[in-house]
Amino acid sequence: MKNWSPSSWRSKPIQQVPEFPDKAALTEVEARMATYPPLVFAGEARKLKRQLAAVANGEGFLLQGGDCAESFAEHGADNIRDFFRVFLQMAVVLTFAGSKPVVKIGRIAGQFAKPRSSDIETKNGLSLPSYRGDIVNGIDFSEVSRTPDPARQEMAYRQSAATLNLLRAFAQGGFANLENVHKWMVGFISDSPQGERYRALADRITETMDFMRAIGINAENHPSLRETDFYTSHEALLLGYEEALTRVDSTSGDWYTTSGHMIWVGDRTRQIDHAHVEYCRGVKNPLGLKCGPSLEADDLLGLIDVLNPENEPGRLTLIARFGAEKVEDRLPKLLRAVEKEGRKVVWSCDPMHGNTISLNGYKTRPFDHILKEVQTFFDVHRAEGTHPGGIHIEMTGKNVTECTGGARAISADDLHDRYHTHCDPRLNADQALELAFLVAERLKKDAEAQPAQKVAAG
Ligand code: PEP
Ligand code: CO
Repeated sequence: MKNWSPSSWRSKPIQQVPEFPDKAALTEVEARMATYPPLVFAGEARKLKRQLAAVANGEGFLLQGGDCAESFAEHGADNIRDFFRVFLQMAVVLTFAGSKPVVKIGRIAGQFAKPRSSDIETKNGLSLPSYRGDIVNGIDFSEVSRTPDPARQEMAYRQSAATLNLLRAFAQGGFANLENVHKWMVGFISDSPQGERYRALADRITETMDFMRAIGINAENHPSLRETDFYTSHEALLLGYEEALTRVDSTSGDWYTTSGHMIWVGDRTRQIDHAHVEYCRGVKNPLGLKCGPSLEADDLLGLIDVLNPENEPGRLTLIARFGAEKVEDRLPKLLRAVEKEGRKVVWSCDPMHGNTISLNGYKTRPFDHILKEVQTFFDVHRAEGTHPGGIHIEMTGKNVTECTGGARAISADDLHDRYHTHCDPRLNADQALELAFLVAERLKKDAEAQPAQKVAAG
């Protein structure tokens, strides 16, 4: 890796950087964190890369999701458990329909730092720094709370460690055993239409498991039935934090960020000659790149050259987030450019970030716009003969009212009921499962249909 070091980003221009008033405290925290144990291991990141390589080759599907922003206030076992349950439900729905492995990556155990459209927020004549996620400052609108505080990075690190510890126990310790497929139901959705549908699917899985047990295949002799691989991811936005957790892997001699298995570059920080791209190009973890409406094909190809110079499948996931109205216009240009140049990537659809609107003073996302973006994403891939590799969503296991619509028809007037997000509106458990069923139907339909005929030009 030429001219790269964990700190080489510091000599580049940078966007979205918080102003820490106490620079000495920041340096001290970063130095201390550089001595802390890694949260994840290089070998795990490599395993994830192999699984994503299969997705890039059309042999799998990526499910990535979680909070827009994790918060210190919502850190508790119930939240983590309910998120994990819904996530497992979604994964099983998608696996059953697509008959392909589903790679599971949470936006969790490190997803704290947020980019903002403005550095300053003004209320009743008072201007304060914008909230940038609990790893930087507090959400309360007061001077004390909004002042960036480096000590928050150590809190975020410790919260990530505790979250990851529980997730590892859930994934490997029996909770994810397919024999528990009925037990993953979250209380409040058990009487909804999605709950009903899920129960029917779980019955079929249980029946299949009974049959397999009868012929000698069971969770005791087949670990893949009793445990699952679950990975963590977050936006690599706060680069001082990432740098402090960057380590050399002793087996390969390569650099990895140990803050999470996968990191991504956000839509606002993807300038090719800036700090965020510089940092990410040097670590060997799987990377994501958010692709928004302003990204042109040539710029994308340039970014791919920098982020995946060896054209390794699994290294780079392109996360398309155009909005329901723009995806049909923007996505084909990028897809064709990437195909023409033979670049091996995973294409994933983030139907959240291009569909945010304001209603009754709340940021929200209409569920039908989210679905429309996903459907169009699949349509475009089908027309181009490429693989729609995954979805990337903001969701929670809780019964929140943040996105409108869905089977329970959350209205604009319902939003105030249980609007808890610290940043963007999330799908609640019901809406998340409904989306999984719709994607599952689509996967099944596309797999059964004849391959799309490419119409020869001219
Ligand atoms: C996000 O994923 O929360 C986010 C800020 O996305 P984007 O960079 O695509 O706007
Ligand atoms: Co978000």
